[in-house]
Amino acid sequence: MNKHVMNEAIGETRLDRGTQGVIGKGVDRYEGKLKVSGLAPYAYEHLAGEDVAYGFVVPGAIGRGAIKSVDASKAEALPGVLAVISGDKITRASSQPMAPAAQTIDGEVFHYNQPVALVIADSFETARHASHLVKVEYEAKKGRYDITARETVREPDPMPMEPVNERGDFEKAFAAAEVQFDETYTTPSYHAAAMEPHASVAKFDGDTLTVWTSCQLLESGVGQIAAGAGIDQEKVRVHSPYIGGGFGSKLGTSPDAVLSALGAMTVGKPVKIALTRQNVFQATSRRGETIQRIRIGATRDGKIACFAHECDTTNSPGNGFFEPSGISSVFLYAGKDRRIAHNLVETDCLMTSAVRAPGEATGMLATEGALDELADRLGIDPIEFREMNEPEVNPQDDTPFSSRKLIECMDEGAKRFGWDKRPATPASRREGEWLIGYGMASASRANSLMQSSAEIEMSPDGRATVRTAMTDIGTGTYTILQQIAAEMLGLPLDQVDVELGDTALPPSSGSGGSWGANSAGSSVYVAAEAVIAQFAKRLDVEADTLTLKDGHAIAGNRQIPFSEILNGESLSVTGTIEPGDTSESTHQASYGAHFCEVAVNAVTGETRIRRLLTVGAAGRILNLKTATSQCYGGQIWGIGYALEEELVIDTRNGLLVNHDLAEYHVPVHADVPKLDVVLLEERDRYASPLAGKGIGELAIAGVGAAINNAIYNATGVRVRDYPITMDKLLAGLPDDIDAAA
Ligand code: MOS
Repeated sequence: MNKHVMNEAIGETRLDRGTQGVIGKGVDRYEGKLKVSGLAPYAYEHLAGEDVAYGFVVPGAIGRGAIKSVDASKAEALPGVLAVISGDKITRASSQPMAPAAQTIDGEVFHYNQPVALVIADSFETARHASHLVKVEYEAKKGRYDITARETVREPDPMPMEPVNERGDFEKAFAAAEVQFDETYTTPSYHAAAMEPHASVAKFDGDTLTVWTSCQLLESGVGQIAAGAGIDQEKVRVHSPYIGGGFGSKLGTSPDAVLSALGAMTVGKPVKIALTRQNVFQATSRRGETIQRIRIGATRDGKIACFAHECDTTNSPGNGFFEPSGISSVFLYAGKDRRIAHNLVETDCLMTSAVRAPGEATGMLATEGALDELADRLGIDPIEFREMNEPEVNPQDDTPFSSRKLIECMDEGAKRFGWDKRPATPASRREGEWLIGYGMASASRANSLMQSSAEIEMSPDGRATVRTAMTDIGTGTYTILQQIAAEMLGLPLDQVDVELGDTALPPSSGSGGSWGANSAGSSVYVAAEAVIAQFAKRLDVEADTLTLKDGHAIAGNRQIPFSEILNGESLSVTGTIEPGDTSESTHQASYGAHFCEVAVNAVTGETRIRRLLTVGAAGRILNLKTATSQCYGGQIWGIGYALEEELVIDTRNGLLVNHDLAEYHVPVHADVPKLDVVLLEERDRYASPLAGKGIGELAIAGVGAAINNAIYNATGVRVRDYPITMDKLLAGLPDDIDAAA
């Protein structure tokens, strides 16, 4: 077993030397041609042309209560219907992603539109039609749907962070502070709204089950499917070779995975289920709505003395996951006395779970707005204010930062953006009807490394194949693993193949929490080191003295093709990366800064984003193009969070009202200006052997606040209740505003 445990900083590596010259380059996607030509099969497209049946979910029509009866006789009588399944296995399938089925009580409905029955038919159309003929009777109970009612409040599980982080005595320090800032921000519930709907195809061969599904973490998916379908984990194989976006909503499997397995078991042939867009919104998972109180005590000259970020969010009974809005408040700014705390308000709505950058994506909408407000009250430039409060070590526990380029990001961004031309006074720059403003915000995303394994097989002709049960959720995993293997082994890119998304391959970290590139990538690094060690042994030289380039090993004045070293045989090694001491001895995060120029229409309150620049630092960038694309995604999502996105909960019954993309608004092209992304050179030698840190979720963090701050600078109106829609702005714009001015 070739294993590297990240117990100490990594020294110089072959990636630093860059002999092959492919690491970091913005090379095209490995699977790009397959995707643009439609040849990359997504979950639902597997078993095309085979004899399969189709499942359609019957969604429940109450928020909370019991199922009294299910009458499937009319549906079953329809020609083409193979089975109608109901009962506890069906209702339990809705409690998948992050949590066990603790919340399910047999015969109970625990959220609106929870699957209550499953129709299997010989065509999709017949299954859908029959689903409307299934008659379900309920006994509705009173449910809890409103976060502000706080009917049941409890401490969440320590997932994904400790809910309470305190140091010193915040209340005492705040009471004594020269300047006291105390404001509350709110964010609505959100949906990941991935383009590819959650879908699965399940097939039995004897008692062995194969499921093709759209899932970010395959190993946990195996466990969920096995538990839900009541079969042995060893008998389940999951494939997820291509994924049309997950953003956390596919960390686990969704109801379609278990339901397709139950369907296939019942009708004796493979079953396909694609959730409708409405099912996706109402029966997978969502981001919790938040209420965030921020208190900051400071001196009049701008030194933060104490910092509190207290957050309420929601989840359903039995689920301890919480939206950790205070995650970056723990370490981002100085302040001796601190209190970062989270409460869970239990509601009977669809479970909440991870959505891209859980914590930062909502928390920094609040904190970065608050920092801007406080800087404004103190009369200090917001960049200067942040730089004055840059901590030297993690202010929570004094651990050193592994690397931190927040100030560099702010300074570089200010220079590129022309921050010196920012209107000094809010509501002071105007172009006809349009009020113009600049805003900025910090970005940060906590970094983590996960255990992950990969195999490299060298074929006798010297080509390499990388194999791991890792996923590519659209982030570029295929491409960066190819680049890492090619750079390490000294192979042209077209000499490296990559196979992913199959639980028969070495177990991997999966894609989540922005850890995928460093974790899976480091396992490829470790496997490549093992290949090189084998080569060196066969050539009787020290591995360190071996230079690898273009399929040749160069040692002294010898240059030997790999095929000669392999001598007609293939060579297969597996490498594993494991997190170690550096996860504890250093504090690791990626950093960035966003800069935004907006124009707000003084008459209508409409906001137009004119420019958006993000400067990021996330350690070694493995592929400039895919990394930059991740940042574009974050910026666009930030526009949505600032101005548009809001999953509306009907507080009478828990219905998610705007449960499709017609009513749940996300940015369209006309909302998005030309985006600029700049990534700084950085190596984080404590984070991983690649010296990289997570970047996927960095750019969404704080970008909505930069927009908010620009809107304030343009209008003098501060909105603390996201999204910043026209009605909220108009309420604050002066009535006598002269549109013709
Ligand atoms: Mo991410 S929200 O952990 O996929």
